[in-house]
Amino acid sequence: MDGEKIAIIGVPALAVLFLVIGFIANPPAETQLEPAPPQDFDKELAAAYVQAGCWQCHAVSTLQTELTEAFGEQAAGVRPMGPDLAGVGARFNADWHAAHFWKPDDVFAGSQMPAQRQLFEPGQPKLNEQGRKVVEFLRTLKSRSDLNKPWPTARVVAPAGDAERGRLLFQRECAGCHGADAGGEGPASKFISTPRKPPALAKGEFVYLPAGERPIDSIYTVITNGVPGSAMPSFASRLSEQQRADLAAWVAKVGGK
Ligand code: HEC
Ligand code: HEC
Repeated sequence: MDGEKIAIIGVPALAVLFLVIGFIANPPAETQLEPAPPQDFDKELAAAYVQAGCWQCHAVSTLQTELTEAFGEQAAGVRPMGPDLAGVGARFNADWHAAHFWKPDDVFAGSQMPAQRQLFEPGQPKLNEQGRKVVEFLRTLKSRSDLNKPWPTARVVAPAGDAERGRLLFQRECAGCHGADAGGEGPASKFISTPRKPPALAKGEFVYLPAGERPIDSIYTVITNGVPGSAMPSFASRLSEQQRADLAAWVAKVGGK
């Protein structure tokens, strides 16, 4: 083998080796997981969930035994066409659930889940007692399943995005909370106040723009990771990198950042 060939084979092989070593020494933040907390089981709260019939479409993989023992086999999920609800307690806050039960499509575009109006005071966008218990039950579901991955937390750099495509995507994915004009008054916003209302992005209401970071990267990071404990969910698994970059480009533009 002459020198040239060795160089051709050797350089990519070395690059791969360094990548592998780099990965082992410094895995991406997503893989550095806190251990999942043990799963609580409150029978009274679980009863509200079972009475609401959520088991017709959902399972909670971390509570299969408890639900079966307390309420029979069906309660553990008969035809789980909807996602495993294990871990949702760490992903959505109580306000998000209320908005979701009222009109799922407002917070989750294209949702297949029927509205759960039986969980509200008649005709009013205010949860009734059962509704509050179902939400409380969901908030206890903090232990992850294998399916239900925790959200990323690392800061990320936005790839180049197309603001016009972002504008269209915003109408579908974000307008329910932030408003079609990004003025903060989407139909779901009436449910959301803790810890903060959906900000009026078009009026420049940004609080997550750390000094020393490009605003577009900060916006992209919020879209990717969500804001833990708030109603702003992570869009990491729902939208591609390119879609999040397009959104960040439009949000930065409309917000004057
Ligand atoms: C007819 C089937 C059906 C019923 C009944 C139903 N859901 Fe859903 N649910 C779905 C589907 C499908 C999804 C997936 C996303 C979508 O289409 O909205 C979903 C999504 C969810 C999510 C978001 C989960 C995630 O990981 O993104 C939560 C939370 C949820 N449902 C809770 C409930 C609760 C609580 C009840 C009972 C009050 C309920 N659902 C009743 C079908 C259903
Ligand atoms: C279910 C409602 C909801 C949806 C859907 C939603 N957001 Fe949010 N968003 C919020 C709330 C509430 C906050 C404020 C979080 C906090 O600070 O407590 C927020 C915060 C933000 C911020 C941070 C602003 C700041 O203060 O720096 C950005 C950026 C953002 N959202 C963009 C988006 C984009 C883009 C989408 C669509 C992909 C989206 N949001 C979808 C509710 C939502």
